Amino acid sequence: MLSLKDVHSYYGASHILQGVNLEVKKGSAAVLLGRNGMGKTTAIHSIIGFVTKKEGEISFEGENVINLKSHQIARKGIGIVPQGRRIFTNLSVKENLTVFANQEQGGWDLEKVYKLFPRLKEREKSHAGNLSGGEQSMLSIGRALMRNPKILLLDEPTEGLSPLMVGEVMEVIVKLKEAGMSMLLVEQNIATALSIADDVYIINKGRIVYHDRPEELKKNMDIAYHHLAIS
Ligand SMILES: Nc1ncnc2c1ncn2[C@@H]1O[C@H](COP(=O)(O)OP(=O)(O)O)[C@@H](O)[C@H]1O
Ligand SMILES: [Mg+2]
Repeated sequence: MLSLKDVHSYYGASHILQGVNLEVKKGSAAVLLGRNGMGKTTAIHSIIGFVTKKEGEISFEGENVINLKSHQIARKGIGIVPQGRRIFTNLSVKENLTVFANQEQGGWDLEKVYKLFPRLKEREKSHAGNLSGGEQSMLSIGRALMRNPKILLLDEPTEGLSPLMVGEVMEVIVKLKEAGMSMLLVEQNIATALSIADDVYIINKGRIVYHDRPEELKKNMDIAYHHLAIS
């Protein structure tokens, strides 16, 4: 449903993505692992059109979208849960969910999001800035769902959360996948990645240095540790 073929991305003269190949199949979860600064967010930002200097092919449902503007890409059904959540701290939980909502018959609405995240219902009227990190992560996911995406790109949704909250947020992400949502999840933690992945990719200095199914990776964790080792 989404594939990157030999994608190169640049910030000015900096050549960040150096020929990335990656695929997310419909209904599956691809996980992109890599240390800080390796190009994970740049990959996500390239897909959604935030990075404009690019070469290669980014195809979504058979159409090359690499030259489209970010609002056009969003309208095709690519949803984003940005790194650092980026919620509107001075708006209420409910306002965060409804501000950019894209109403669609039978799609996501407040009721469905609240069913998935009962905590958000309880805190509906609170200022989003007063939520815990885990609740903010849930809000960021809920806000993305309210736009009725066909695929979700999640950039480190559990970053900085306590182990308990990592578990809670991941449980919901697994539920979403089981409900058929296609996703690309960016992670730094191998265990978290393996809990959901159908495909695991490891990125190092702007290149995909490993791709396999999690069962294969589990048989040879040395490879993952090698690519993810702190150097
Ligand atoms: N806006 C930017 N301008 C210039 N360089 C950037 C910008 N954003 C990220 N970079 C550089 O691109 C590289 C990859 O960053 P990023 O994609 O954010 O990594 P990750 O998400 O894997 O931590 C890093 O070397 C970073 O310094
Ligand atoms: Mg990042």
